[in-house]
Amino acid sequence: MSKAFTGGFLVLILGLLASCQSEEEIKRQKYFVEGLRLYTQHCANCHQPDGKGLEALYPPLNGSDYLVNKEKVICLIRYGMSGPIEVNGRRFNRPMPANNQLTDIDVAAITTFIYNKWGNEKTITDVRATTRVLDKCRK
Ligand code: HEC
Repeated sequence: MSKAFTGGFLVLILGLLASCQSEEEIKRQKYFVEGLRLYTQHCANCHQPDGKGLEALYPPLNGSDYLVNKEKVICLIRYGMSGPIEVNGRRFNRPMPANNQLTDIDVAAITTFIYNKWGNEKTITDVRATTRVLDKCRK
C-alpha cells in the first residue's frame, strides 16, 4: 500500500467516525431539548427549574444521590411514588403524582435531560432502554 493511499484511507475512516459521532450528538441534543421542555411543563413546579427542589416538601434532582438507581427513577416518572424516602441524607415523605399521559419517548427524553444536566451523563437514555424498564414496573 502506498503512503498516500494509507493516508487517504485514514482520513476517510476518521471522517466517517466524526460524522457518526456528530449524528449521535445531534440525537442527544434532540432528546435533551425535548426533555427540558417536558421537565418545565410537568416537573419544574415542584422540583423547580434549577432542579434543587423546595424546602422539605420536594426533594432535589440536581445533585440527588437517588439518581444512582436509574430504573427506579424511570418508573417513578411514569407511575409516581409515595412513602418516605431519603435524598442526600434528608427525609421526604409526600406523594408524587403519576404522569400516565407521558409516552415512553417522553420519559426517555426527561430521563436524558435529568442525567445529562444533573447526573454527569453525556449519553442518551434511549426509548428502547426506557420501554424495557417500564415493562417491568408497568401498572
Ligand atoms: C406535585 C409535585 C411533584 C411533581 C409535579 C413531580 N414530582 Fe417528583 N417528587 C415529588 C415528591 C413529593 C417526591 C418525594 C416522594 C416521596 O416522598 O415518596 C418526588 C420524588 C422524585 C424523585 C426521587 C427523589 C429525588 O429527588 O431524586 C425523582 C427522580 C423525581 N421526583 C422526578 C420527577 C420528575 C422527572 C417529574 C416530572 C415528570 C416530577 N418528579 C414531578 C413531587 C413532585
